[in-house]
Amino acid sequence: MNRRYRKTVIAGNWKMNKTLSDTQAFAQQLRELLPRGKWCDIVLCVPAINIPSAVRLFKNTRVAIAAQNVHFEEKGAFTGELSAAMLAEQGVKYVIIGHSERRQYYNETDFTVNKKIHAALAAGLNPILCVGESLEQRELGVTLEYITYQVKTALAGVPAEQMRRIIVAYEPIWAIGTGRTATAQQAGEVCQAIRAVIRKLYDARVARAVTIQYGGSMNAKNAAELLAQPDIDGGLIGGASLNAEDFIQIINAANQE
Ligand code: PGA
Repeated sequence: MNRRYRKTVIAGNWKMNKTLSDTQAFAQQLRELLPRGKWCDIVLCVPAINIPSAVRLFKNTRVAIAAQNVHFEEKGAFTGELSAAMLAEQGVKYVIIGHSERRQYYNETDFTVNKKIHAALAAGLNPILCVGESLEQRELGVTLEYITYQVKTALAGVPAEQMRRIIVAYEPIWAIGTGRTATAQQAGEVCQAIRAVIRKLYDARVARAVTIQYGGSMNAKNAAELLAQPDIDGGLIGGASLNAEDFIQIINAANQE
């Protein structure tokens, strides 16, 4: 982390977990546990149907509500999809774009990711752009090249002044939901490389201000070590965000220093 230049953001990605009643119970528990003052920014990416309720449940707290996906078109015949404007109007502040599960199961490509980034920015949402290599890519030694390609493609056409609104989440696919975390050194190295790519695309000032998260089996035990890396400014947390006590421990780790 480097609080001087950029925000620390801890985001929970609930994926397809928690009904409305589960969400209500979680909100009550988390609100009681939230530390006062000195907070890192906290985001909860909830299932779309529970967004309006979650916005209400976390009103007047520092917890912002996020969506897990968005369509890139403004409107039209896209059955089952949601537009960025629909999300923004419901009080959504952030949206995950390009999560590896969406790339894997729903044919999301680097090109649709780029379009979604533009759609989200146009509607005033803050994108959480996910990038990450597969195990095969890591073993072949092409991680940094692949991540560079993903970041460049996703950010194509994004002007420097919009970069303040973008969070990049580095999520190695082999570490997601597997209990196998990247070491702090491995994660730090890739996050540093992501910042270097942004420096090349824009400039040092833009790169310094971008929040870069790590995601992939981050939990209460390993959070402090990962967050101690200078280029890791937060986490995108799946499994460990489903339990308010675990999630709060990660928030507390991000508030240390
Ligand atoms: P995990 O998920 O923490 O359960 O590994 C992270 C993510 O997919 O965002």
